[in-house]
Amino acid sequence: MNEHDSEKVAGVLLARGYKQVERLDAADVVLYNTCSIREKAAQKVFSRLGELRPADWTRPGSVRIQPDREVISQGLEPHEAAAGRLKDRPIIGVLGCLAQQEGEGIFERAPWVSLVCGSASYRKLPQLIEELETGKRRVTGLETETDETFETEITRRDNPWRAYLTIIEGCDKACSYCVVPFTRGPERSRSSASVLQEVRQLADAGYTEVQLLGQTVNSYADPSGRKMRFSDLLLAVAEVPGIRRVRFTTSHPRDFGNDIVQAIEAVPAICEHVHLPVQSGSTAVLKAMARTYTRSEYLEKIAMMRAAKREISITTDIIVGFPGETEKDFEETLSLLDAAQYDGAFSFKYSPRPNTPSLKMQDVIPEEEKSRRLAILIERQREIQRARNEKLVGKGFEVLVEGKSRRENQWSGHTSSNRVVNFTSQREESLGDYVQVKVTGATPNSLIAISERHRDFSLRTE
Ligand code: 5AD
Ligand code: SF4
Repeated sequence: MNEHDSEKVAGVLLARGYKQVERLDAADVVLYNTCSIREKAAQKVFSRLGELRPADWTRPGSVRIQPDREVISQGLEPHEAAAGRLKDRPIIGVLGCLAQQEGEGIFERAPWVSLVCGSASYRKLPQLIEELETGKRRVTGLETETDETFETEITRRDNPWRAYLTIIEGCDKACSYCVVPFTRGPERSRSSASVLQEVRQLADAGYTEVQLLGQTVNSYADPSGRKMRFSDLLLAVAEVPGIRRVRFTTSHPRDFGNDIVQAIEAVPAICEHVHLPVQSGSTAVLKAMARTYTRSEYLEKIAMMRAAKREISITTDIIVGFPGETEKDFEETLSLLDAAQYDGAFSFKYSPRPNTPSLKMQDVIPEEEKSRRLAILIERQREIQRARNEKLVGKGFEVLVEGKSRRENQWSGHTSSNRVVNFTSQREESLGDYVQVKVTGATPNSLIAISERHRDFSLRTE
């Protein structure tokens, strides 16, 4: 989601005539997109901002830069301005969740920053940038009370194979550990017509794979008269000519219904992969987390997917060391891993975040204990993935060719189920093509395969 926000912000700048430069020291404008989901991510931002501190920063708050790159020297020593040392000083902005969380406090900690804008206010970005260009020294976009979404004329896309597209912004859930509802604001869905129009544009531009994004993507509620359900939207996107793969993330278990499974069953272009964060295997911890489901309700969703006619790959997110998590609770998370048989899991140590209800909870788990639990969990899941992937040896998959290895005849890509495949092919594959491969080996995180085209070819020539 954050990466895609960066793509859209870059699009806003491109539309205003800016160009992307390769090197930081060639930039007139530097915007840092930030994350505050866990403390580590937030800490990184201030150390990065420290690196951007201009060497000749003498009088905080006294420098203005005009778009024509003239330095207006109010309160600056005349010789400094005359020496032109500040001519290359870029406009520095901080975007994203940390911007939202810290607000104007960022100006105090890093006074060389001139723009602070949270994601709920990105609609205002063109206006904020214009204010900076016309000489305003500091601008902010910090409102979260909004019913608007961030739509751009141009999006500068970094991934040439997978086009991201936001269908719902913000979050109306209130998980007790999570900053997102504070930093990204309330849930706002885009109209289905606008989503479908963007998908058609992407298909025209040559994309065959799209990924629909939202913090709780399946809570999508079409604001237009068409009132499409999320599963209807999936079906409609899959029907756009040229689109071969439709992905979506992240799904919230509470809103995950059988209609989504039926859509996956019915339409091969809807990828058979669901990312369904569980967070904990203990009903008591889930309750403290305010996740709105129990362990057994979650496992029912898994059973529903396992009963589908197509084999669905399921991945998850897990937090260990939530306040009050006992050894027994943790063991329930481990046993849930066995029961759910995930194909992938992102696991995190609980990180206390500002404003969140869990910040004040008792029975904080010591850092070393969190690390111990995390290591056990990662190891258990690794073994599950190893066993699951080994069972795939001998099976055939279609892979979108996304990369060429430095090693000769080696290529990589993803299956529709989002598994990473490294495969051998004697023929010069074209990036962006779909090829049929056969799995010859497995690791916990990827499959090793051989191109079926190559096999056919060698059979014919033998
Ligand atoms: N501490 C640890 N992990 C967190 N996540 C969200 N908030 C926190 C937190 N305070 C994790 C959840 C979520 C993922 C994106 O990040 O597992 O699904
Ligand atoms: Fe955070 Fe919960 Fe919303 Fe996910 S569903 S973004 S964890 S509040």
